[in-house]
This record gives sequence, structure tokens and C-alpha cells, in this order.
Amino acid sequence: MSQPQWHKLGPVELLKEKPLQQLEIHRTKLALIFKDNEFTAISGVCNHVGGPLGNGTLEGDYVVCPWHYYKFHYRTGLGEPGYEADRVPVYSLKIENDDLWVDLASATPRGRLHHDPHPLTRPVVREPGPLRIVGISTTVMDNAHPRLSTSELLLQEALSHAQRKGYETRLQKIRELKFRHCEGFYSKSAHACTWPCSITQMDPDDQLDRVYEDLIHWADVMIVATPIRWGSASSLYYKMAERFNCIQNQITTHNNQLVRNKVAGFIITGGQDNVQAVAGHLMGFFSELGYHLPPFPFIAHSLGWSSENMEHNMRYVQHSRALSEAAQELVDRCAELSCALLETSAHVLQHRAGRKAFNASKHRDR
Ligand code: FES
Repeated sequence: MSQPQWHKLGPVELLKEKPLQQLEIHRTKLALIFKDNEFTAISGVCNHVGGPLGNGTLEGDYVVCPWHYYKFHYRTGLGEPGYEADRVPVYSLKIENDDLWVDLASATPRGRLHHDPHPLTRPVVREPGPLRIVGISTTVMDNAHPRLSTSELLLQEALSHAQRKGYETRLQKIRELKFRHCEGFYSKSAHACTWPCSITQMDPDDQLDRVYEDLIHWADVMIVATPIRWGSASSLYYKMAERFNCIQNQITTHNNQLVRNKVAGFIITGGQDNVQAVAGHLMGFFSELGYHLPPFPFIAHSLGWSSENMEHNMRYVQHSRALSEAAQELVDRCAELSCALLETSAHVLQHRAGRKAFNASKHRDR
């Protein structure tokens, strides 16, 4: 057995003030617990992806990780019932002269249960086959009482055209999926935002995994359709887009560019105007994920502020041959670019200077 390595943590009276706290002693992170008038200490590093356990919460006899809520027993370091083998080290403590001390040499072994990697983490490989186009409709409506959506109508027109061309297509109606809002893991810590999204990994009922599958692994071209709502894309679009943070953050945290040689196009319709603002956002966001844009990457329709007239608007879109042909041409432009890209090796972002979260203070070239 190795020699004890006692290190002073501080005055007992002071440390008693918090039921759970994160401490660092010579680069060893500890979660110190004061419960039932007694101190215990377990590792401050979570088994999952390293969350600071001491910054979490105490729930009964368990320390709950603040990042994705894994639980470890405050005294034994064992995982929850059924997951005991997933355990974090426990440390010996002593009190001397009103100070609390920890023996860093006393750490019990860490244990990790084997977790199969999530299927979405497999390498991104473009399987042989025809061009693949996924349409994503972000219109909100009651599925039990459907109504006409002009953006979805044009998206369906685009996908029908793609099928006639021999491309494979899928349609994801986001309103038909049950999925949770982004809970801001990245705001807790950059490394708390994982690929796929932590929610996808933790919650088998969350259905955004099928959209991730299509976007990252299946489709060569993605066409997003949205209505205009008070000058912006639909609320459902934003709920979905926030869950795509994990795609962008892979570049930020791991230099892992998941979207390569893929093309995005957009369909935007609204009774009111603001096409350019909505298109500007969509183009900016998806190009930031790594998508390529064809020339004229969106088609849009709006009767405008003064001419808002929804009955007329629906009829107009339903019967507009020009808009129908425009949807088809959007597919053609996206497909042409996609075919060209598939014949080249993917452009991979080499230098993050000028990109989001590039740490300029660490780089002084001149
Ligand atoms: S639950 Fe602790 S890091 Fe994910």
C-alpha cells in the first residue's frame, strides 16, 4: 500500500458551510460532501465526460453530476443501483487541529461500465447509391387537424421532382417528432456539449436522432422549409436548430467537422414579409455547420405586409406554376453542386482563426 499523502483542505468550520463543493489539490479534483455532520470525499471528475461532480447537487445519498446528471454515492462513490460498477474514487479524510485533511494516496480505483458508443458516433462514410435529399419541414400545426402549409407544399413539390430525377428522398416533418429543447449544456461547459446531443444519448424517447442520422450520415442535400412568423423562421425551426448546436460545437471543441461535402437549400414562405432576414439567418447558420450553398440557395414567397390575405395566399401558392418550377429548379441547383462535390475530396476546415471560439489570446504570429 502506498504511503499516505495528506494535504490540508482548510478549516473545518469554513468547509462545513457547503453541503457539496468542488476542490482541487495538486491537480486532483475532489467533490467534498458535508452530510449528517460528517465529511466524505469522492473524485470531482465524473465518469461520463468529466463533469465537475462537486459543482453538482446532493440528491439523497447521491451526488448528481451538473452536466448530464449521472449519480454517484456520496460515501462509496458507486453509481446508482444497477450501475454500481460505474464508480468514482473515494478518498480518506481526517480532522486535525480544526482543519480537514485528505489523503490523496487513498483513492479507491475508478470503475467504468462498458457503454456501447451511440450509433450516430460512427465514422461518416458516404455509402454508394443515388443522390440523397432530405426535406425538413418546420411548420407547426396540429397533426390531428392538418391544414395547408405553403412552405411544406413547395418542399413536397421539390422532393417529388427529386424522385422523378431518380434521387432518393426522405421527408422529416419536425412537428411529428417528440424532442426536447436544447438545455444549454454548452453553457455549462464547452465539453458538456457532446456529439450526438447529450439529450439524444440520455433519452431514448427523444426522436431528433433520426434527423441527425439523415443530416450527418444519409443525405447529400438538405432542404429546409419554414414559414415566416413575425419576421423570423418558425419557432419549431429554432427549437430544432438549437439542438444542432452539438454539430457546430464538435468543430469548436474537437475540430470534428461532421458536415462535409453536403449542400443546403431553403424554402421560405409567409403571409408577411421579411424573406431576406429569414434567408440570411438560414444561410449563415447552415454554412456555419459546414454546408455548401448553391447559387441562389433559397426560394421564397410573400405577399407582403399590406397585402396579407391568407386565403388568397394559400390559393396563390397552390396554383402557382412559377413557384412549383422554382422549387424544382432549387433541387436541380442543389443536386448539381452536390454531384460536383461528391467527385472531390471534402474541404476540411484547417484553421479555426476567425471562426467561433477561436482563442485569439493564445496566438501571436506577428
Ligand atoms: S453526467 Fe457527468 S459528465 Fe456527463
